[in-house]
Amino acid sequence: MHNQRLNIGLFGLGVVGKGLLDVLHESGFSDAGIRRICVKDPLKPRAVPRELLTYDAGDILGDPEINVVVETISDPDAAFEIARESMRRGKHVVTANKKMLAAHLPELLEWRDRSDVSLLYESAACGSIPIVRTIDEHFGSEPVEGISGIFNGTSNYILSRMSLEGLDFETALRQAQASGFAEEDPSSDIDGLDAKYKLILLAAHSHGVVAKPDELLYLGIRHIGKADMDFARERGMKIKLLPQCIRSSPHRLAMYVMPALVGADSPFYQVEDEYNGVQLQANFSGHQFFRGRGAGAFPTGSALLSDLGALQGGYRYAYRKHRLNGHTSLDASRLLNVYVRMPGRLHSASLPFEQVTHESLLEDGSRRMLGTISLGALHRQSRQMLREGIFAMQLPDSFEK
Ligand SMILES: NC(=O)c1ccc[n+]([C@@H]2O[C@H](COP(=O)([O-])OP(=O)(O)OC[C@H]3O[C@@H](n4cnc5c(N)ncnc54)[C@H](OP(=O)(O)O)[C@@H]3O)[C@@H](O)[C@H]2O)c1
Repeated sequence: MHNQRLNIGLFGLGVVGKGLLDVLHESGFSDAGIRRICVKDPLKPRAVPRELLTYDAGDILGDPEINVVVETISDPDAAFEIARESMRRGKHVVTANKKMLAAHLPELLEWRDRSDVSLLYESAACGSIPIVRTIDEHFGSEPVEGISGIFNGTSNYILSRMSLEGLDFETALRQAQASGFAEEDPSSDIDGLDAKYKLILLAAHSHGVVAKPDELLYLGIRHIGKADMDFARERGMKIKLLPQCIRSSPHRLAMYVMPALVGADSPFYQVEDEYNGVQLQANFSGHQFFRGRGAGAFPTGSALLSDLGALQGGYRYAYRKHRLNGHTSLDASRLLNVYVRMPGRLHSASLPFEQVTHESLLEDGSRRMLGTISLGALHRQSRQMLREGIFAMQLPDSFEK
């Protein structure tokens, strides 16, 4: 596509879909128009002309005039069918659905290449931060050592309320829900899944590895408590939920999501509330840090608008690292320096520690342990840890008790 008019078929008119309409209107983006909007519930009142609406995906997929499908629905399975079918029919796809992308990226890329269309998803990772295209384009040739960040605004908002105002987890979560920063079911955000999907997308561009969601450890903040916040505060540090992709040897990567203790010298220390931050460490340029709004109607709408502009200029992701580093694999043997707090009835043998350097019983009856554990062992125990109410976070390599 080169400077062609964009005739858009939009799927979804929730926070993101409506955000795109507003951003398109306010930005005066020319040479683009919404031709049809497909939603689910025929009884919902909508602030758009009736003739734009349809409840049948076929009205968009089968319209030969529509050359771009923007997918912003909440159902990842239906979103996959829409994205695949759109590309099969020669339409470009712009999507915000990280869960769908993380689960189906290889197949989607096959369809993209077979149909010679674009598949763009800046809005799916870290909202308004221009990170996907930056990594794909700007860092397409320079080797990237690591990428990490605060990719989930909901959990960061909760952690900010806990550390800045001393709220407990439940109160902070309720406040996040009341302020529109957390969904009614916050599991995907607080358990680290959402951050994991975004990590998979970014690592596909930064390191050329398309990991499967099941392959990655993810631990969240559901069981964080006052004792953990106190531990961080007493040391002048903060707890952040950090997805990380680190090159551990020339062809091996450690990829995981877990809370981490960060000091005032970390760029993540100052990222509060619903903001996101991304740190990239590249071979020649060194550390780069990006910070911005991670979610919401306008930040996400801004990323969709940017994709539409790029699409009009004929842009496609190059995935250069994928071609360069095709033989890179995941490294589960990496040893992590960890802090673990578990119910007092459990003990150190409940987790396969390589070494325990400190163990204590706390006033609230829980047990705290510091030590080392391999990424793979932690991954194997992670679902049980969630069930048992165990909180774990990574300590900096240089950490001294
Ligand atoms: N919210 C954010 O800040 C944000 C940021 C980045 C990415 N995302 C991603 O963007 C997507 C949408 O999020 P959202 O917050 O906008 O969700 P939302 O407010 O719940 O809206 C979802 C929309 O999808 C429509 N829908 C659901 N299933 C459908 C189907 N089978 N066919 C047609 N329409 C269908 C709904 O239709 P009805 O209106 O008829 O119910 C609704 O308009 C998700 O993948 C999310 O992960 C969200």
